[in-house]
Amino acid sequence: MKSTFPLFPDSASTLSGHVDALFIVWSLVSLFFTVLIAGLIVVLMSRYRRRYPEEVGADERAGIWLEILWSAVPLAIMLAMFTWGTKVFFELYRPPADAVEYTAIGKQWMWKVQHPEGQSEINALHIPVGQPVKIKLASEDVIHSFYIPAFRIKQDAVPGRYTSLWFNPTKPGVYHLFCAEYCGTEHSRMIGSVIVMEPRDYEIWMAGGTPGKSMVASGADLFTSLACVTCHRASPGVTQRGPSLEGVFGSQVKLADGRAVTADDNYVRESILNPLAKVVAGYDPVMPTFQGQVSEEQLTQLIAYVRSLGPTGAAPAGGTGGTPTAATNPSSAQMDATSPLVNAGNTTAGQTQGAAQKPPQK
Ligand code: CUA
Repeated sequence: MKSTFPLFPDSASTLSGHVDALFIVWSLVSLFFTVLIAGLIVVLMSRYRRRYPEEVGADERAGIWLEILWSAVPLAIMLAMFTWGTKVFFELYRPPADAVEYTAIGKQWMWKVQHPEGQSEINALHIPVGQPVKIKLASEDVIHSFYIPAFRIKQDAVPGRYTSLWFNPTKPGVYHLFCAEYCGTEHSRMIGSVIVMEPRDYEIWMAGGTPGKSMVASGADLFTSLACVTCHRASPGVTQRGPSLEGVFGSQVKLADGRAVTADDNYVRESILNPLAKVVAGYDPVMPTFQGQVSEEQLTQLIAYVRSLGPTGAAPAGGTGGTPTAATNPSSAQMDATSPLVNAGNTTAGQTQGAAQKPPQK
């Protein structure tokens, strides 16, 4: 029915059926009450109309129980729909722990997608069927919106922070990808395709592309070339200007002003672009900003690297290497990780010029 009904897109993710069921039931309930109320208006108007000019209406009132009934029944229906809708909402916005994370960056007027293994695509996303996929969204300029109707998902890409969505495609095929937020003159052409493939075909596609470096490996390289490694060296016991980043991602970080924050994507992003916003307790605010020096793509790579140092990720020593696999756990459910806090108290005594101000090495 849906494929022949042009107003309804394909249903091709594990949750699209849930969204459709909610939508259809809600529409039927609305239709039922619209017809009921409109019908009653017409019937009662004609039945109780004034038949001659001097006619006075009878002094009748609806019983209190009738009033309670027509208030309570709609209330119960509304609460039921609210509960159901909330359940579907949480399903839609809570990625499962085994979701593989891809990055999509909106830019006037295209979507730039990067695979965890390093492949990048423009206005296209190749994924294997049956694999939960989390898309981390960022924007280089204005607000865009990542919209795949066949999966019933949509999420804004907002400049300055990360948002995400997830889905689990159930049917191989090619599906529309839209930008669903007016973002300038070429907004209507900011479209692409999501290509869902059988796992075997996906392997072949992956092998055929230029593999590139994994997100983690690219991030590790940047960590060295931007001289982050000079201060955030992963060698415990050595006096450092900045905290070691091992085991940090996903943990609670104590700040100099007494607050504690969870080291998630947005925290690491802010710490790179605006280092003085949230200084870790026990360290001097000496880190320079990297605003303007790293692109959105490089930021996501750096974050992928920092995450790989987290409690569940690999921990390559010295800030090089990195595991070129998708093994880094993309779940944000790492908040309960009991990794050591980074306020080890190893502040430098002198106000040394930050080594990060050195020009980046090649
Ligand atoms: Cu991007 Cu509309």
